[in-house]
Amino acid sequence: MANPRRGSSERERESTNNPRSWLKVQALHALSSAKQLLRKPHAFPVLLFFFLLLAWLSLQFHSNHRHNSITTNHIDDDDDDTLANLARFKSSSSSSPIIKDTRGWLLDPVSVARDSALLGGAVSCESVHVGEIRPGGLRGNHRHHFCNETFVIWGANTVFRLENSRVADKGYAQVVVSGDEVAVATSPRGIAHALINVDPIRTTFFIGCQDSMANSSSSSTDYNVWKDL
Ligand SMILES: *[C@@H]1O[C@H](CO)[C@@H](O)[C@H](O)[C@H]1NC(C)=O
Ligand SMILES: *[C@@H]1O[C@H](CO)[C@@H](O)[C@H](O)[C@H]1NC(C)=O
Repeated sequence: MANPRRGSSERERESTNNPRSWLKVQALHALSSAKQLLRKPHAFPVLLFFFLLLAWLSLQFHSNHRHNSITTNHIDDDDDDTLANLARFKSSSSSSPIIKDTRGWLLDPVSVARDSALLGGAVSCESVHVGEIRPGGLRGNHRHHFCNETFVIWGANTVFRLENSRVADKGYAQVVVSGDEVAVATSPRGIAHALINVDPIRTTFFIGCQDSMANSSSSSTDYNVWKDL
């Protein structure tokens, strides 16, 4: 029969034999010393420190979380333009080489690519595609085996991704063309490319100049190259 009037020393002795009740006793000790501490005049700075620590931890968590969601959406694009075979120009600055007069910009994609030392593009436009990509939309994500292509991209914040084995791990280079820029980019035959409008409002416009006529043979193009897009 248990005796309800057992002394505390006896209870503690028993609890050291039982790890669970020993933990409980330790927790009660910690709690009562915390209570005593909070009654003292230095409790306020201690509490303040504690809340600042919580706020800092929460900020760390949120910024990590945001960083992860950006990388999984692939908007974390700081690769070098040269790795993406891309040259960019301001569309409104008067010092921009694509602006000849006050009417605005005008360019020949083939000669701009050549002058910017972008290799592997089309040297003539046998087949031309002109189009738009609305916010959130994707075009490309394919690989043509029998044509080299030169792009002009403008109008909105747009991700340009180009297959590139020199980029370790990823195997592609990816950059963002901003809405106030005009970009010229080349994608040699056998190299995959994708354009994604990452702008919340504006529409991307583009021209794709290919140096051979579209080939209806399905083996001439690989589709859905990147599964994350
Ligand atoms: C079309 O594709 C076939 C392979 O499917 C290839 O042999 C041929 O050269 C291609 N033609 C052109 C014009 O690219
Ligand atoms: C594409 O580029 C390669 C290498 O510059 C060239 O040999 C080829 O003739 C070009 N055009 C096509 C349709 O493959």
